[in-house]
Order: sequence, then C-alpha cells, then structure tokens
Amino acid sequence: MRRKLVAGNWKMNGSADSIRKLLQGIREGAAGVAAVDLAVFPPFVYLGLVEQQLSGAPVAWGTQNLSEHGSGAYTGEVAGSMLLDFHCTYVLVGHSERRTLYGETDDLVARKFAVARKLGIKPILCVGETLDEREQGVTEAVVGRQLKAVLTLEGIGAFIDAVIAYEPVWAIGTGRTATSQQAQDVHAFIRAQLAAIDPAVASQTRILYGGSMKAANAGELLSMSDIDGGLIGGASLDAKEFLAIAEAGG
Ligand code: 13P
Repeated sequence: MRRKLVAGNWKMNGSADSIRKLLQGIREGAAGVAAVDLAVFPPFVYLGLVEQQLSGAPVAWGTQNLSEHGSGAYTGEVAGSMLLDFHCTYVLVGHSERRTLYGETDDLVARKFAVARKLGIKPILCVGETLDEREQGVTEAVVGRQLKAVLTLEGIGAFIDAVIAYEPVWAIGTGRTATSQQAQDVHAFIRAQLAAIDPAVASQTRILYGGSMKAANAGELLSMSDIDGGLIGGASLDAKEFLAIAEAGG
C-alpha cells in the first residue's frame, strides 16, 4: 500500500515573515492529517528557518533543485551535501520550470537524480508534456523519454525510494487542471513503464500529480488508483488550503 505524499513547491515565493507564518500554520495542522505524508520545498535561503520550525513536526522538507557537482567553482550553485546539513529528505529534479527556463536536459536531470540518491536524498523526478506536445499526441513519448533518461543511467532499483511527479506543463499555474482521468492515464502509463522492468518496484513507486491542484479538485484526483499524492504550487502557500488538500487524500 502506497502512502500518499502531499508536497508544497513554494517556488520563488515568500519572505522570512510570511514563511514563518506559513510554517506555523502547517505545523499546527499537520497532526490532523496523519494518514498522509507531508513535505515542503522552500527557496534555499529559508532552509535553516524551515528546519528550525519543523523539527519534531510530521513534515519533511527539501529543495527545488541541486547541483550536479559535488563542490567547487560553480558560482550560484548549491551542492547536495549542503542539503544534508539541513537534513533535507527530498529534492525536486527536472521541474518543468528548470527544464524550460534554465535549459535542463533529460541527461542533466538524470545526473542530478543520481547525485541526490548517492547522498541518500530522495529525488522527486518531475516529468510532463507541454500543451503543444499534448495536442500533437506525443504525451507518452515525451514522458517516456524523460523517464528513460533516468532508468538508463540509474536502473530500475533507483525508483524504490524515489518519487515521480507528473506535471503537465499546460496545467502549471494556469488554473487549468488535468481531468482526473487524463492524469490517471499518464500515471498508469508511467507505472507500466516501470512494471515492464520490475513489477515489484513499480507497485511501490509513488507518482504524484501536479498542476493547479487545490482543495476543490484534490479529492477527485487523489481517488484515482495510480495517483499517490500531489505536488502543489500556488495552493501550498496557504497553510489551510495545503492541509485541506492533504485531508482530501487521507
Ligand atoms: P501550481 O500548483 O501553481 O499549478 O504549480 C504546480 C507545480 O509546478 C508544482 O511543482
């Protein structure tokens, strides 16, 4: 039985003040959604604050990116080992905003995934097609290619502890959610790709949905058999809304 995971990707939002309040709200409400795992992904600079405020709470944390390098002259980058100093459980790799705005390739994403695993940080591999790609009917080809890059480098065993997030690019920040059936179809496709190599791993891997998910649509999405949680953007900046999404999955 896969436990659901509801994760908040705060992207480049917040201030020390607003994040303190958000964390307080999440901390207070987290015990009420014990059936679901919770995690938050703040901007790097607030990691210390997050660690301090969430220590002892049933909420994990991680970052939105990491460097593919171990250390050295990489101005502006953050190494995976640094995330361990702040006891990060997870790290997002290959978010569509990293792929499209910062040119991250399938190969680079796979290397970041590998670096995280080596350090014992659970990668959350983000995959998803653009609107153009969906309209051209190549959703499965795109998602399959993104997945294969990691499978080729790391092998199926890498997915025992990892998480996959299916985030159709056209649903991110647009208010246009994939229907629960559209999401389920792609989730089932992803699981089938893993199952073709190792059914036991496939049945364990958590596959989250992301893209304009909110309390109002979470219940339906999270009731689908292959949707194991959510990666929430905008709605995760409000503690009540974020917890209501988690409650819908409990
Ligand atoms: P929204 O929930 O704001 O659409 O963002 C989804 C997302 O990109 C989470 O990683």
